[in-house]
Amino acid sequence: MYTQALNTTEVAAPDESEALDRFQARIDAEARIEPNDWMPPAYRRTLIRQISQHAHSEIVGMLPEGNWITRAPSLRRKAALLAKVQDEGGHGLYLYAAAETLGVTREELVEQLLDGRAKYSSIFNYPTLSWADIGTVGWLVDGAAIMNQIPLCRCSYGPYARAMIRICKEESFHQRQGFEIMATLCQGSAEQKAMAQDALDRWWWPVLMMFGPPDADSQHSDTSMRWKIKRFTNDELRQKFVDATVPQAQYLGLTIPDPDLRFDAAEGHWVFGKIDWTEFRRVLAGGGKCNRERMAARRQAHEDGAWVRAAALAHAAKQRAKAA
Ligand SMILES: [Fe+2]
Ligand SMILES: [Fe+2]
Repeated sequence: MYTQALNTTEVAAPDESEALDRFQARIDAEARIEPNDWMPPAYRRTLIRQISQHAHSEIVGMLPEGNWITRAPSLRRKAALLAKVQDEGGHGLYLYAAAETLGVTREELVEQLLDGRAKYSSIFNYPTLSWADIGTVGWLVDGAAIMNQIPLCRCSYGPYARAMIRICKEESFHQRQGFEIMATLCQGSAEQKAMAQDALDRWWWPVLMMFGPPDADSQHSDTSMRWKIKRFTNDELRQKFVDATVPQAQYLGLTIPDPDLRFDAAEGHWVFGKIDWTEFRRVLAGGGKCNRERMAARRQAHEDGAWVRAAALAHAAKQRAKAA
């Protein structure tokens, strides 16, 4: 998922209103907006913020799982996890490239992440304590990502929508590898099953928070829906996720840590308990268990990569001189 749209509402100047009408008509007709097309400044800003938050989340999201590559229980698990973490790095790069088509540079975006101005998904500030956490992250975090990102393949902004198509295919592999880890643990020893249950207990609520604040509190959702950046509200996506995931937990023989969870046969939905939004706000504001560690790791990685950037620039300069 990794994205919650944060729009600003902007009033158009009188001479812009005709352009705005034409823009909205194109959106209504399901046309794609491309980088060189006219777009309202607020549409551009919303997308830069949303796509860059998404990119940052993919990059920071490599950390909790990268942490387990050397400890994966078999060569097969190690190869799959390594491939998954590399995919997430790739997702970050496609998304930075999509954001760059809106007139922002990669350097600015990376700087915003490193100096703490930019946000990334709060889910990556939780620690991965056991191997079952890697299964749970794949199953639930990537599962939530798919729920959120499939509609983004139809986002009105062309470069973002196209990037999402490949990303979603890869997320679906991530979700399956996570579920398979969980299925293996749940069919294993009592101790392994307990480990799977413990991971589900810790991740369930933070994953529900990934969809963002409830609709009643997210006043900017309307503009994003009108512009077809978003196709479903946070609450709609959260409900779809719960409806899809409860039967999977039942299949695994795990208990979702929510005493209020019940099936409403008339509505055809799983009704779930209250989400603790104070925890969400606290983690987003920097109070999660791993916020500091994650940012320190990113800053260190950026510093460690300085020689690579310098070498690439020197190589490009030499090639230019040769060509001249
Ligand atoms: Fe991803
Ligand atoms: Fe993923």
